[in-house]
Amino acid sequence: MPNMSEKPWGGRFESPTDKFVEAFNASTDVDARMYAEDITGSKAHAAMLCAQGILSQEDHHSILRGLDEILGEIESGEFEFTIALEDVHMNIESRLTQKIGDAGKRLHTARSRNDQVATDTRLYLRSRTDTIIKRIRHLQSVLVSLAETHADTIMPGFTHLQTAQPVTLGHHLLAYVEMFERDAGRFADARTRMNQCPLGSAALAGTTFDINRFSTAESLGFDAPTGNSLDSVSDRDFIMELLAAASICAVHLSRFSEELILWMSAQFRFIDLPDAFCTGSSIMPQKKNPDMPELVRGKSGRIIGGLVAILVTMKGLPLAYNKDMQEDKTAIFDAFDNLEGCLRVFGDMLPGMKVNREIMHAAASSGFATATDLADALVRAGVPFRDAHEIVGKSVGHCIKAGIELHTMDEMACANIDARLSTDMVRALSVETCVAARDHIGGTAPNQVRKQAADWKKNLESHHE
Ligand code: ARG
Repeated sequence: MPNMSEKPWGGRFESPTDKFVEAFNASTDVDARMYAEDITGSKAHAAMLCAQGILSQEDHHSILRGLDEILGEIESGEFEFTIALEDVHMNIESRLTQKIGDAGKRLHTARSRNDQVATDTRLYLRSRTDTIIKRIRHLQSVLVSLAETHADTIMPGFTHLQTAQPVTLGHHLLAYVEMFERDAGRFADARTRMNQCPLGSAALAGTTFDINRFSTAESLGFDAPTGNSLDSVSDRDFIMELLAAASICAVHLSRFSEELILWMSAQFRFIDLPDAFCTGSSIMPQKKNPDMPELVRGKSGRIIGGLVAILVTMKGLPLAYNKDMQEDKTAIFDAFDNLEGCLRVFGDMLPGMKVNREIMHAAASSGFATATDLADALVRAGVPFRDAHEIVGKSVGHCIKAGIELHTMDEMACANIDARLSTDMVRALSVETCVAARDHIGGTAPNQVRKQAADWKKNLESHHE
């Protein structure tokens, strides 16, 4: 009979695991990164077992010493993870037993890998979520500073990617600050919901030992123990939520990327991104490509893919734990690594962005971006809005034919279109007046942008306190 004793679960087996299955089944390449959380979780569990009289003081001390040594071995790169031991949990436990003997074998009392993995993953993702929120906050402050600088930089605002009305660049950038605020909020909400401790749920039904779930929850920084053992070991909605939050944030970054790419094109020439964030072409010497926004736009695909993967993986699973769930980590780790990278690149790249104010201004001044304001002027002179719309529409038609702009129409041209249209009205049109006039909360006026940027600054600083 083969010796199956090196497997922690080998007791009832007669033949060894197929070699390919061993590799296929293993998750160490993905979950080894949770080693610190696995060790922290084990320490909390051991301390609780000891306090409850389930584990002796002596065993408890050996376990703590052994786990600390293992932590050192992993951090110095000495530790060898083996796929024969499947995952991070059994690799660490088996090394512990190698080191301290029977005490190591007692650690798994009143515990299962099912509540262990649920705990480790929550702990690991909790700190990764905190880092992502910090990165979002940093990107927001970069954008707020830029918005201040460009509170009165005028650019065309678009709908349907057609020139619509002039806006300020600062206003445009603050739009993303709002989106990222909601993103940070989604991560924070998900964090609150996932911050409950599954330890003690054991395999699925709880344990026969007199454990204290409140003490492990508290020592691991959870708000409370989870309320139902079956749910605790089979719930992966914290991963779904985090992936949903990550996907939405990635979509925001992707839309922003698309704009930067357009703005840097030879057709727009609104901005130039720093060389350090662009690359050239191996054949076309003139090229400077906005690779970073392109890549960030592309990353949204795999992050959304991770969300779809976890949703589909979980869809048909009966309670409680199923091995399918081992796939959960691949999706969320990949998404978090990439999202963190995207946020970092944007935070580092944007301060070096050069803005071509003249070209933006010229673009806002052509394409009849002031047409709505001319209609508003007519309305103020008593013309019903629908008539005003018609009059300005005709004026635009005239200007296109004559190759002029609205504000250069002469008396004759105005009178021919409508007696109510005056040269005073058209002369008064300027993109500066247009933006300055939208001076209310949420509007594009430089005044508002400065005010909002100042509010954001205070708001973002309060997160540092
Ligand atoms: N590596 C496993 C996972 O990530 C740990 C839990 C294994 N539990 C089990 N009953 N086989 O899901």
